[in-house]
Amino acid sequence: MSGLSRRGLLCSGASLAIASALSSPAQANRAVPQAEQLRPLLHLHTRRKTSLDGKWRYILDPYDAGRRGDNRRRTFWRNFTPPLTGPLVEYDWSASPEMVVPGDWNSQSPELLWYDDPIYYRRDIVGAAVSGHRKVLAFEGANYHSQLWLDSKAIGQHEGGFTPFAVDVTEALADGAAHGLTVAVDSRHHPEAVPTDYTDWQNYGGITRSVWLVDLPPTYIADWFVRLDGETVRIDVELAGAAVAGQRVAARLGGLRLEGRTQTNGKVTLAARRSPRLALWSPEKPTLHELRIESAGDSIAERIGLRTIATRGRELLLNGRPVYLRGIAMHEEPIGPVGTRRMSEADARRLLGEAKALGCNFVRLAHYPHSEATLRLADELGLIVWAEIPVYWEHIRYDSAHTLALARSMQADMIRRDRNRCSIALWSVANETPITDARNAFLRTLIADARALDPTRLLTAALNKNVDVGGAEEGTSVFTVTDPLGADLDVLAVNQYEAWYSERTPDQLKEVSFTTPYDKPLMFSEFGADALAGHRGPREHLWTEDYQAWLFAETLEMVERTPGCVGLSPWLLKDFRSPRRWHGRYQQFWNRKGLIGETGQRKLAFEVLRAHYAKLASR
Ligand code: GCU
Repeated sequence: MSGLSRRGLLCSGASLAIASALSSPAQANRAVPQAEQLRPLLHLHTRRKTSLDGKWRYILDPYDAGRRGDNRRRTFWRNFTPPLTGPLVEYDWSASPEMVVPGDWNSQSPELLWYDDPIYYRRDIVGAAVSGHRKVLAFEGANYHSQLWLDSKAIGQHEGGFTPFAVDVTEALADGAAHGLTVAVDSRHHPEAVPTDYTDWQNYGGITRSVWLVDLPPTYIADWFVRLDGETVRIDVELAGAAVAGQRVAARLGGLRLEGRTQTNGKVTLAARRSPRLALWSPEKPTLHELRIESAGDSIAERIGLRTIATRGRELLLNGRPVYLRGIAMHEEPIGPVGTRRMSEADARRLLGEAKALGCNFVRLAHYPHSEATLRLADELGLIVWAEIPVYWEHIRYDSAHTLALARSMQADMIRRDRNRCSIALWSVANETPITDARNAFLRTLIADARALDPTRLLTAALNKNVDVGGAEEGTSVFTVTDPLGADLDVLAVNQYEAWYSERTPDQLKEVSFTTPYDKPLMFSEFGADALAGHRGPREHLWTEDYQAWLFAETLEMVERTPGCVGLSPWLLKDFRSPRRWHGRYQQFWNRKGLIGETGQRKLAFEVLRAHYAKLASR
């Protein structure tokens, strides 16, 4: 757990080691960030804060001139109004255009649709000083690498497109005046990045999630982790700031009262027996309880669900009872004609509403940590969640110390941000990663980290039928999941695309089956086919809604025949932007495997899956 220091974020031992490794990558090259990683300020939704969202000025820097330092004419981070008499500078913030934050830049201007380089953002911030209080600048997310300056002074950097980061700016804002904040966001992925520059989704760049100026009391409640341990409710609480030792901490969860006193390190674990009145959370009954935690100088409130998730042989158990995951996968991209990474709560509610209309009790939030608001909505709507970091495909540098440190830091920040979200049941460490010694060691490190940070959840990974699963040779009809990583995972998941990325036709799926020697639950984390919404024809014709519906019907029968199968998350809810999908008639840079088109049109396969889930739910 972490607290804020005057310089940035104090990291606990493990994450400190991660941070230092980040700052000294194996192969120092210009594009690989050199400074220490800024870490998140946790539980932003519970903090007293001012929004910095809105219009920010920006400067395009496609040749990365600002960082080359070849002259002072382009030092965009400098708090500088150029006098007309010189010296010459070739920029003027007051004459620069404006862009909306939060929001990717690609969708905000036609000239930026394919822009994939640094952009400098600028705005003034004012933080009226309150004696003893801390002021923290907090970003919910920016893709891919962010460099921050306040009044021309570098105050930190963050690598990673989907996890939050923060920096203490108390001293700089102490005078209560306006101060110039500059943020350089570079959407490019260097060879040791996570993910790399080759993915099947649009690399939306920019400050894609909200920015806040947070007010923290001198001693504040920095972190808490609420969980059910058998019939005992346990709450780990950590204070940070001026006086953390020996402090009384009181918590109320529903009608349950817990209290204790912090140790010298500011931490305390509160425990109490769960009363039957404190109902458990489930998709059918997503009960959330008011949590309130109070210490001498701070208090927080949020809504928390209680549930247990476990495996028993090949069964998946929710609150001790077998559960079957009726799921769907989804990217973080709202319904609408223009692809964007900007996801409002209303957008998330609409998208998750489509999952509920399908009859889902489960969503795979692919392939990176989604917004916090989406996770809180999943708690509220009763959707079990699979969450993951983008350790994606074979291009990841599994032999790089920088890449491993970055993946560890990303996963730790995702888990510490979201482990109070009862909807999350599964942490996934990878998507379609080829079996090598380096990859196995890399993923085993991530698995160990996840278990240390959160012993209450299950570990999984999306394994690729064509690479990780036996029977890859064409014509084989029995696929055996033998990936050695299976020994380290709790739930095995398989991405398979028989009858789309294979010579088979959907009717031949009757010959196909999947098994595993592991006595563990197995699920299908992806299957599907592209179909252009509204394009109808004989079901034998690719790209038609009819073919997609046929493939779904035949695949669902195969899934039903699979022993030890605990669920599925077909690929996927909605068509999404991908520069790899350029078929001039059917794709136009959209991956068309959605059950709904980009503007929300439901395809035939939507009804096939809905009817299937209705049948399962009625059992
Ligand atoms: C892969 C991958 C997805 C991709 C999908 C596809 O399995 O995990 O990110 O979009 O296949 O080919 O559509």
